[in-house]
Amino acid sequence: MGKNSCLIIGHGAREHVIGETLVGDGVKLFSFMSFKNAGLEDLSKDIKIHSETDFQEIIDFCKEKNIDFAVIGPEAPLVVGIVDALEKVGIPCVGPKIEAAQLEGSKVFTRNLLEKYKIKSNVRSKMFDSMERIDSYIKDMGVENIVVKPEGLTGGKGVKVYGDHLFSTQDILDYCQELVSKKSRFLLEERCVGEEFTLQTFVDGKNVIGSPLVQDHKRAYEDDKGPNTGGMGSYSMEDHLMPFFTQKDVDEALEDMKKTVAAVKAETGVGYKGFLYGQFMKTAKGLKLIEFNSRWGDPEAMNVLPLLEGNFVDICWSIINGNLSQNIEFENKATVCKYLAPEGYPVNPKKDEQVIINKEKINKTGAKYYYASVYREGEKIFTTTSRAMGVLGIADSLEEAEKISESGVACIEGRLFHRKDVGTRRLLQKRIDHMNSLLKK
Ligand code: AMP
Ligand code: GLY
Repeated sequence: MGKNSCLIIGHGAREHVIGETLVGDGVKLFSFMSFKNAGLEDLSKDIKIHSETDFQEIIDFCKEKNIDFAVIGPEAPLVVGIVDALEKVGIPCVGPKIEAAQLEGSKVFTRNLLEKYKIKSNVRSKMFDSMERIDSYIKDMGVENIVVKPEGLTGGKGVKVYGDHLFSTQDILDYCQELVSKKSRFLLEERCVGEEFTLQTFVDGKNVIGSPLVQDHKRAYEDDKGPNTGGMGSYSMEDHLMPFFTQKDVDEALEDMKKTVAAVKAETGVGYKGFLYGQFMKTAKGLKLIEFNSRWGDPEAMNVLPLLEGNFVDICWSIINGNLSQNIEFENKATVCKYLAPEGYPVNPKKDEQVIINKEKINKTGAKYYYASVYREGEKIFTTTSRAMGVLGIADSLEEAEKISESGVACIEGRLFHRKDVGTRRLLQKRIDHMNSLLKK
């Protein structure tokens, strides 16, 4: 194989599964990460630990290692233009250029784009950078219909929703004032009520090809209680849908993602290349777009990439060359991914605690495991302040996949917790009932 030296940028479980898939499909992997991921270290020919937004260091490492192409995992380097910088020196990338990455980097850009191009799943929203006229906008929308979203990247922690985090007009005004003081632009957006799904796609500038639907669990504790997190686990079903999302919903979401990619090209002149993540909510008023991400989801990448039947490296080259074919196939299996997080996460996480992985035992369960924010000293693994390990079960049914994931979790010891309810029938039924109750209205 020729052009097969690949650089991956990023350091989480998402990059671990991307790296694993790339290596499985034939690349020589090199990793550039701000924090050493033990999984990527084991998979790579060589690694460099350095800021993921230092373009010159990344370019130098690529030249030193004769890199043929780069895959960019996280949003931070994308929204500051890593792809533009690498492509300028002749290194093709799987990831959007800065103009196109605004779909994640600027919520104002995205809402304006969707409005201008009349994309159906858009919701009502308005941008503010001062307190002027906020009061009347809230009155007009109705206080219970308000979501406040800071403009840029907030690691999932900046969005505040009426009823979840804000409980009165005064709460909303206080949060807006806080953002104004920080000189952050923000949106007041229509609050949607329904069930969410993630649709992750491959995009080559024009073609947008979908993958199995995934549902993430943002809340820290069982039964969707507790503070929001980066995601505590996720599942996908063997038919690649969900009992409460039909093929028609997927087709509609995909249609809007195609229109969005075309709109980005029309508006900026830049074709979107890479992975595009759409988070949608099915509501009584139809399908609504919650947000786009310019990358794979974490944990959602772990639900999808291990099911890929084709060659991921070929797909990456098709993205680069603009000739993706329509038939990207995935195994008809269910998946359940559970995140182990340090006790106290996300409020007061216990860091520097040892994590003991019984590798022999976990391999016998059939579960796969991915390193997230943990570090290795000698042979020992320790927690940091963020999610520690992703444990994945794959099987013919959701029940079996959930059991495998739990058996895998049982082989990992430490001051950690996870959500036992992710991927269980009981939680699934709760979501089905919720959707049914909304749609009957
Ligand atoms: P985001 O950072 O945009 O993914 O938002 C974080 C979470 O806030 C999402 O996963 C949703 O659960 C919630 N959210 C964001 N926008 C809305 C909206 N317009 N209506 C209701 N919930 C929302
Ligand atoms: N799981 C949500 C995200 O990756 O943003």
